[in-house]
Amino acid sequence: MLQVSDRLIIDFAADVARDLALTPKQLQSKYLYDALGSSLFDAICHLPWYRITRAERRLLEQHAATVVRMLGDDPEIIELGCGSGEKLVILAEALQASGGHALVHLIDISSQALEQSERRLGRLQHVSVVGHRDTYEVGLRRAAAARDPGARMLVLLLGSNIGNFDAPAADEFLRGIRGALAPGDFLLLGGDLVKPVADLLLAYDDPLGVTAAFNRNLLVRINRELGATFDLASFDHRAVWNAAAQRIEMHLVSRADQDVAIEAAGLRVSFARGEHIWTESSYKYLPEQLEAMGQRSGFDVAHQWMDRDAGFALTLFEAQ
Ligand code: AVI
Repeated sequence: MLQVSDRLIIDFAADVARDLALTPKQLQSKYLYDALGSSLFDAICHLPWYRITRAERRLLEQHAATVVRMLGDDPEIIELGCGSGEKLVILAEALQASGGHALVHLIDISSQALEQSERRLGRLQHVSVVGHRDTYEVGLRRAAAARDPGARMLVLLLGSNIGNFDAPAADEFLRGIRGALAPGDFLLLGGDLVKPVADLLLAYDDPLGVTAAFNRNLLVRINRELGATFDLASFDHRAVWNAAAQRIEMHLVSRADQDVAIEAAGLRVSFARGEHIWTESSYKYLPEQLEAMGQRSGFDVAHQWMDRDAGFALTLFEAQ
């Protein structure tokens, strides 16, 4: 029988083959997060130009007690894309202060992020942790199927992870979350707001080159896991603000005409000089667009808290 890791590699090879055959060429941003990619993303979150993480942490610190109060005793919390688990700790501490206990499901495709998060939360006595190394959809289905019907559920979709879905996929995803919940459950959604273009470009093309390394590491991963021959020095990182679509795009731009072999996909791919591989979209929102997104998916807005300086919003939705 195939191991989970074999299945993931087969899917990865199939996705790479399909997405590099598109015009323009693409690679899915979920593949940015191998062990090194997750560490580079952690480093990005510490960069002075990338303000999402700190703004969200500040908002959580200010409003965790309100969220916990709305959840009642002994809730079940599901974090989609748990990162390092640090933000969940803020909520868990507020829960401890109120004398509650939480069952926490961590869902992440990155085993490194999961382990880090499990370790961090495992130290808290009033929290039981279950890790799911899976896609958001599969992990959510598993967690919801095992729920205690008497407990309130809170799904956390933080860090503006929603911004990495395009509009129809974001709606469908939120509808999927709503479908896994019962009326009176909650969704806490962190969303990055539209802000001056110069700030956005600095956040996604930082002067230290950490985001460039994060983007190029996708080629390192394809070389290692799929036996490919990408020459890293032949691809430049580029961040572009697409105003019409309200998104930052990350690209890898070929510096030369070149061919790359990808053994596990049985492919040879040609790149023209200047040709782009589109590796990520990061949508930015107006506060009311975030509210409308939840409302379209079967939620009411319970609260919206904003950090206007960093341009970030945390919206608490209640399932109708
Ligand atoms: C995880 N995600 C919300 C990040 C973002 O801002 O879109 C990923 C990232 N890409 C470059 N920098 C950070």
